[in-house]
Amino acid sequence: MAKDFETMEFSNFSANPSIHEVCDPARRLWVQGGLAGLASGVFGSILPGCAALPAGPLLGFKAVPSASTDTLVVPEGYNATALAAWGEPIGVAGNMPAWLADAGNSAADQEVQMGMHHDGIEFFPLDGSRHGLLVMNHEYTDDGLLHPDGMNTWSAAKVRKAQAAHGVAVIEIESRGEGGKAGWQMVRPSRYARRFTAYSPFSVAGPAAGHALMRTAADPQGRTVLGTLNNCASSQTPWGTYLSGEENFAFYFDGGDKLDAHQLRWGMRKAGFYRWPEHDERFDARKHPNEFNRFGWVVEIDPMDPQSTPVKRTALGRAAHEGAWVALTRDRRAVVYSGEDARFEYIYKFISRDPVRLAGAGISAAQANRDLLDHGTLFVARFSADGGGQWMPLVHGNGPLTAANGFADQGEVLIKTRQASDLLGATKMDRPEWFAIDQQRGEVYCNLTNNSSRGAPGMPGVDAANPRANNVMGNIIRWKERDDFDGLTMQWNHLVLAGDPANARAEAKGNIKGDIFACPDGLLIDARGVLWIETDMHATQMYKGELVRIGNNQMLACDRASGEIRRFLTGPVNCEITGVTLTPDGRNMFINIQHPGETPTDRSDPATPARFSNWPDYRVGGRPRSSTVVIRRTDGGLIGT
Ligand code: FEO
Ligand code: CA
Ligand code: CA
Ligand code: CA
Repeated sequence: MAKDFETMEFSNFSANPSIHEVCDPARRLWVQGGLAGLASGVFGSILPGCAALPAGPLLGFKAVPSASTDTLVVPEGYNATALAAWGEPIGVAGNMPAWLADAGNSAADQEVQMGMHHDGIEFFPLDGSRHGLLVMNHEYTDDGLLHPDGMNTWSAAKVRKAQAAHGVAVIEIESRGEGGKAGWQMVRPSRYARRFTAYSPFSVAGPAAGHALMRTAADPQGRTVLGTLNNCASSQTPWGTYLSGEENFAFYFDGGDKLDAHQLRWGMRKAGFYRWPEHDERFDARKHPNEFNRFGWVVEIDPMDPQSTPVKRTALGRAAHEGAWVALTRDRRAVVYSGEDARFEYIYKFISRDPVRLAGAGISAAQANRDLLDHGTLFVARFSADGGGQWMPLVHGNGPLTAANGFADQGEVLIKTRQASDLLGATKMDRPEWFAIDQQRGEVYCNLTNNSSRGAPGMPGVDAANPRANNVMGNIIRWKERDDFDGLTMQWNHLVLAGDPANARAEAKGNIKGDIFACPDGLLIDARGVLWIETDMHATQMYKGELVRIGNNQMLACDRASGEIRRFLTGPVNCEITGVTLTPDGRNMFINIQHPGETPTDRSDPATPARFSNWPDYRVGGRPRSSTVVIRRTDGGLIGT
């Protein structure tokens, strides 16, 4: 996410407790059993951490050094190839407009091209590890790059193009070679190729569907929303669908001078970061206040069914969701973890009422579980100073969640998940980004990317789970639930505090064993058990004062048994490394490079012709493009070994 968003996220003014204790990461042990038995069988092949791949050294590659060049660097013996950059046609039959290097494509073109600023990404196999679908998010737009004439003037057509560059893409890819590069290419045309934009129809399901606060003049039933916004992280469900989080949706709305308490709590501003409301009044909250409530949901997409309608799952709560990740209990109920990447916001989990159903005759697993995420209970986390913690139900009528406190029903509890969590005394976290689930060991990991406001005057102080004031480096927290993923108490500790152990400043020091990094964002546990960590640092945030210079954003691999963290790749200048998925054989890794050369300058301005990056095309003076990258070992071996 672009730097400018970082300063806008704080809106939690509730008086929830801080614990004022510094965590000792070494003092806590995992004490509970995992989910043995679930690893095999029908779900085993799709659950992270469950597939049986050949054994070998967990981390067998040679670390790459930190970098500041406009290149993508992978270890010796690996290669990396860009694929499906912003603007590439996705492969809709008869409608494949080529990307124009001057950004001259229309909104209609953009609707059938890769969107901007790729983020979360998932591989769905069609034929083992050689042919499948990639589904990915397009988080936001850099409007200086998106339009030939930049971002200083606006029109309805430019708003439409920006909206078309948002959302989600489904593309089909195939390996047409052998050995090192494996020749991954987009299959075009493809019957699976789809784009979901900021104006595609989504149905609304769960307790908030049809709620009075979800109804608008254009949708008096409150059950169909146009579009998904600011989709950040992704995951794959055990039943074969794609989950995407609507993150910083508040910045798309103009609220005007008279913001009410609800709007303020959700970070609405007088004027948003985008100028859509000038040409699309849906985003003018003065005229359509409920439109705001229709974003901030977890979105579920069935990429295998090109006719399927995507769904906003309100039972999972409304939040500035980074994403959502599914674990399974022993009796096969889904436990969906999520958090919101905003300063001092919360971590959630949803436990489904029903078990996951198996695919049947003529019915895919996705279709068999089309209502699974609509029935269940949402909880919010409180992390205790003693290394324990509890999950508190966000259920209407529970404790303070009553009509007297502004919650008419369960739908309103979910639409106002933040306010409900405030009243329950949930722990205010340092910006929860991606989660990763170790299904076999029963562990959950979460990146807390940073929070420079922690401990600042008038702001919450440190607590055990968020132990550093001016937390510019971030940390990775992990926990294990009591007995099973549906446990209502947990034991937690920190896997690592990011930073440089050689730095004397408390906020920059950290306890990394291995290569230094900061601001963990993307996260995945692969089938071999490697924890992959991706970073989203910002130059002005990280390089000020005496703070250590860490270099371009990077991806690292962690051996959780030894604690070693080793740098696997570095990205081009001013990019963010995000999204990671592998083919089932562990031999092809797909990541996304987001916003290479990110800069606040207007690219159409002749006074600022110099661009920080022109990756991946390296066209002289050309526009940088977010892109997927395929990573292979040159000998075709397992990634990471
Ligand atoms: Fe979109 Fe929290 O990163
Ligand atoms: Ca991002
Ligand atoms: Ca992110
Ligand atoms: Ca981030």
